[in-house]
Amino acid sequence: MTHTALLERAERVFVGGSNGEFRLPPEANLVVSHGEGAALYDTAGRSYIDFLLGSGPMILGHGHPDVVEAVTRQISRGTTFMALNEPSIRLAERVIEAAPCGEKIRLVVTGSESIQFALRAARAYTGRDRYLRFEGGWHGVSDSALHGGRTLKPGTYPATSPDGGGIPRSWSGDVLATPFNDVERAAEVVERHRGEIAAMVIEPLQRCILPRPGFFAAMRELATRHGIVLIFDEIVTGFRMAWGGAQERYGVIPDLAVYGKTISGGYPMAAICGREDVMDVMNGWRPADDPKRIIASGTFNGYPVGAAAGLAVLDVLERPGTYERLFAMGDRITREVTAMGRRLSVPLLVGGEGPVLQVLFTSDREIVDYGSMFRADKHKAYVFGVELIKRGLFVSPYEKIYLSLAHTDDHIDRLLQSMEEVLRDVIAKMD
Ligand SMILES: Cc1ncc(COP(=O)(O)O)c(C=O)c1O
Repeated sequence: MTHTALLERAERVFVGGSNGEFRLPPEANLVVSHGEGAALYDTAGRSYIDFLLGSGPMILGHGHPDVVEAVTRQISRGTTFMALNEPSIRLAERVIEAAPCGEKIRLVVTGSESIQFALRAARAYTGRDRYLRFEGGWHGVSDSALHGGRTLKPGTYPATSPDGGGIPRSWSGDVLATPFNDVERAAEVVERHRGEIAAMVIEPLQRCILPRPGFFAAMRELATRHGIVLIFDEIVTGFRMAWGGAQERYGVIPDLAVYGKTISGGYPMAAICGREDVMDVMNGWRPADDPKRIIASGTFNGYPVGAAAGLAVLDVLERPGTYERLFAMGDRITREVTAMGRRLSVPLLVGGEGPVLQVLFTSDREIVDYGSMFRADKHKAYVFGVELIKRGLFVSPYEKIYLSLAHTDDHIDRLLQSMEEVLRDVIAKMD
């Protein structure tokens, strides 16, 4: 089957010709044939260095031998049981041990599900319906989470509206949003809705926005004072920004945290963990008529193949030098791309840090909130991404780049060379 024929078939069968929100324009569209380490190959025989990493899970690169061995072994022993199984118990222990907030855990399948259950748990635990989030963050696709994440215009807070069709508009009333990094605004909203807010949900590296010093500590204090369950969405940051995730990196311990991507080893696997008294609302032994008892169940919960893969990944990440290496690569990219922008007179900022970065084309001095992201030139970012793909660097034209332990200094050299070429030959000529 030729590459073009596969793309045509995909166009015929897949709605929008893609798997979802991630889609590539015709001039850069591709069908993946396979991946190997940091390399990705398409069905036209072209090769790429992968800086998308499946949107984050492939932190060891593709087909890591330890993951392949662990998964192969598990597959021959059975792929799903519904019942307790050893790999899931071992993964649960390791996540709880590493997560500063970890006391009890439930293993689920997707990140979206984990956020949905964490919100449900907070509502049941507090007996309140509302939750507070930060404008422009992303917490997956559940009907609860899709309010106030993709507002078309920043600054409408604290009112939210559904992020897209099919989401009950009436639910937006229970979702309040404030700007990331703005302590006063959050405090004002919490004060105004005193006794009504069940949870505060934070994406600790919100897309590519770093927390300002003191922001999380202030949110922790606010949540504690008002009996609000503080939830960290560690789906991107968990085991990636540090072994103890964003909690360790930014020094604040939430009540609950959700994990996905990194602990999945590339298989469907996610987790909710945290304070035992809050997690206990998921306890299936509670009487069915207990209003605090929530249903947080699923056919694939405790999925042994995902757990075996996740354990193999954690074994590698735990080795000395992992986070130093990921941050050394990220720091170099940030430094060099910032210098390129200055040299070539292309106003830009590099957001994020360590293994999660994003280039924003903006004249702002700092990336502080959704407004900063909103003002950045999305068209330039898109062209930048597409031109990099054409040069064999596989990135998302809309979003972050991810770094893995499979990336070498040569891969980073190639990324930087191509970035400089695109900035000089294409982006600098766009205005
Ligand atoms: C911060 C964050 N939360 C939640 C999710 C949802 O996870 P999933 O796509 O596994 O449902 C994502 C996915 O990209 C994410 O980045």
